Amino acid sequence: MQRQARQWRGAGIPIGFVPTMGYLHEGHLSLVREARRQVGRDGRVVVSIYVNPTQFGPAEDLAKYPRDLPRDLKLCRAADADVVFTPEDAAMYPGKAEGRYSTYVVEETLGQGMEGASRPAHFRGVTTVVAKLFNLVLPDVAVFGQKDYQQAAIIRRMVADLNFPVKIVVAPTQREADGLAMSSRNKFLDAEQRAQAVILFHALQAAKAAVAAKPISAARLKKDLREFFTAAPLARLDYVEFFDPETLAPVRQVVRGTHLALAAAFGRTRLLDNARL
Ligand code: PAJ
Repeated sequence: MQRQARQWRGAGIPIGFVPTMGYLHEGHLSLVREARRQVGRDGRVVVSIYVNPTQFGPAEDLAKYPRDLPRDLKLCRAADADVVFTPEDAAMYPGKAEGRYSTYVVEETLGQGMEGASRPAHFRGVTTVVAKLFNLVLPDVAVFGQKDYQQAAIIRRMVADLNFPVKIVVAPTQREADGLAMSSRNKFLDAEQRAQAVILFHALQAAKAAVAAKPISAARLKKDLREFFTAAPLARLDYVEFFDPETLAPVRQVVRGTHLALAAAFGRTRLLDNARL
């Protein structure tokens, strides 16, 4: 991959990159199309598919994470990707099984709350694998989804802090017809859970409507949203966070432009959503 990327770079060909864990859906494919827009017809678009073990906790769904490479390859071809990079664990984490892998990239501020609080080593795994993928793919532009808002903010910070010569583009969340954010994990929902999962989207809409009129205290709105979720008894709400879209710092007063992120589990399936209010 690196040899190919260096050859392109030497020839002045721009490289667009979309890192994924596969089991692709329209959300991922919208990022592939954005990468193409960024580099143009003469550029190259690389999609990586790698279920990164270091970003999963010991009790999480690494082994169960959905995979379907033949289908993913077809979708990437149809979306006009040039290369699909599918590294093996042994290539990404050389010597790890024998205890000889010991270098990680850690962002220390933006990753403290929300997903970072619920999944302790998660972002360390994400920043590490994305830094490694950047070193392998040597992209000019990398595209991430707003769906994982905190992740995108952390990647931006890592790129700024570590001087990666990569432009980060964040593309909008793609949704199912009823509003549920597309996710590889949606396939684990049974019919009843799937029907109730749209509560995340509805909660974002309700919060938007509430602050459209006037600022409200975060505590008040959190309480209202927790109550709102009782309409979906299968949902176990993990967090409701109102925060500044740049610093990710929690706010006391929710105003237009404040960001809201939600996480809720349905059975063993954890779903996220977020929006700028
Ligand atoms: P994965 O969950 O496969 O997501 C890959 C990219 O697709 C991420 O940038 C994510 O934000 C984006 N994405 C997911 N669902 C989306 C949707 N409904 N609309 C728009 N974009 C969406 O995020 C990861 O993988 C990993 O953490 C990774 C960055 C690849 C590192 O391992």
